[in-house]
Amino acid sequence: MADTSKRIYIFDTTLRDGEQSPGVSLNIQEKLEIARQLARLGVDVIEAGFPIASPGDFEAVRAVAREVEGPVIAGLARMNDRDIDRAWEALQEAQKPRIHVFIATSDIHLKYKLRMSRQEVLEAVRRGVARARGYCQDIEFSPEDAVRSDLDFLCQVLATAIEAGATVLNIPDTVGYATPEEFGRLISQIRQRVPGIDKVRISVHCHNDLGLAVANSLAAIENGALQVEGAINGIGERAGNAALEEVIMALYTRRDYYGCRTGIVTEEIYRTSKLVSSLTGMPVQYNKAIVGKNAFTHESGIHQDGVLKERTTYEIMNPAMIGLVQNNIFLGKHSGRHALRSRLEELGFKLTEAELDKAFARFKELADRKKEISDRDLEAIVEHEVKHIPEKFVLEHIHISTGNRVVPTATMGIRVGEELKEEAACGEGPVDAAFKAIDKLTRIPVCLKSYNLNAVTGGKDAVGEVTVKIEYDGRVFIGRGISTDVLEASARAYLNAINKVVYEVGEENLQQASTAQ
Ligand code: KIV
Ligand code: ZN
Repeated sequence: MADTSKRIYIFDTTLRDGEQSPGVSLNIQEKLEIARQLARLGVDVIEAGFPIASPGDFEAVRAVAREVEGPVIAGLARMNDRDIDRAWEALQEAQKPRIHVFIATSDIHLKYKLRMSRQEVLEAVRRGVARARGYCQDIEFSPEDAVRSDLDFLCQVLATAIEAGATVLNIPDTVGYATPEEFGRLISQIRQRVPGIDKVRISVHCHNDLGLAVANSLAAIENGALQVEGAINGIGERAGNAALEEVIMALYTRRDYYGCRTGIVTEEIYRTSKLVSSLTGMPVQYNKAIVGKNAFTHESGIHQDGVLKERTTYEIMNPAMIGLVQNNIFLGKHSGRHALRSRLEELGFKLTEAELDKAFARFKELADRKKEISDRDLEAIVEHEVKHIPEKFVLEHIHISTGNRVVPTATMGIRVGEELKEEAACGEGPVDAAFKAIDKLTRIPVCLKSYNLNAVTGGKDAVGEVTVKIEYDGRVFIGRGISTDVLEASARAYLNAINKVVYEVGEENLQQASTAQ
């Protein structure tokens, strides 16, 4: 039996660094939904955002702090009074608040970005950490770009932060530059050289520019780090952060080697990954470790044969450990509401009556066109079409005429309250025609930024899952739609994004397109 007495704390920054991924923008409802799921997953800390960054960020941190119980809720602040005060304003209602203050310490950042001397940085750390500590008992300090900082200066800054009241020292590899041996050595040197280090917890925050974020985080744990920061699916600035599900499952699967445990409910990993991917619009690469579509799929005959005889021949983890339940019993058009409810509950979805009504209606529509509805289809229905914001525009009907020798034309019917509105438009292709017809109907000046189509399950009657990103007034909104008909899925996704614009901007503030886009 492995000795796993060392407890590693998991700090999730999906909502802060993760949301800094290019093109990702989450609204408050979406952030709350992810934060609640992270609490079910059992993370120790949720970094809910950067309150000074925008009023939306502030409100989201405040909402998570008020409503999500269990984990510590952290908010990020630069080392200045305004940031720190604003972070505290957002966090003060949390059961367990943490202010996370940071300032860069590498010469390159001091010279070109901060234009500060080392002495000025030391003074800012002393003042800033003490100010934050005046508000809250739990203070995390990060010397940004620690890996490229001069070691003597870094140790001096860390000692100053401890003296001023920091309780967690986070060592970021901001630009993903370190190798595992180097990073492990850095943590070990910090432990040997910084006075007072035994009074605080060492944390690490690794970026993935060289694909080493998880390896570096694990090397840090071997050298005494007790907290690991990262994001679900490894999302984040540039190439992203350490993928938390990989760190967690490495610690669990190789507990014989690392001798550590976490407080994570690993069975919630798969669902958390799906939720984050769906709400951020960032697909998970098929061969991604732990949560990729192929991570537990065996293609070669020899492997299939081995796994059928004994799963552990080719599987080092049981897929059930991450909550991936393989279910071969399908629901179909004769299945009732009760069967749907119990299958959804087995999949971990607890829906309100109104949500179940909506799920059931979409399930019946789909079952009319597709013989067997799989668990993945049901997940797609719930994640994409049920847990949603109020809809001003509801798709009623869509007719598209297309071919290689005709001009693609879409005729669309949309319900707006009691009224059914209809329009037709031509386009470069059928999707373009459908979106133009929707633009004519909604008259909201949006611009399509990206379009992504995926099959949820295999087969000719596979459910198509479309994700679109649109821009309105400089802000990005993500919409999703599913159907066995990819054109209908496209129209649903586009309308979903437009409904988000209406919901978030408010009908009274909407600009109107003078003519169709
Ligand atoms: O990458 C980084 O250095 C950060 C800090 C704010 C911790 O995200
Ligand atoms: Zn970062």
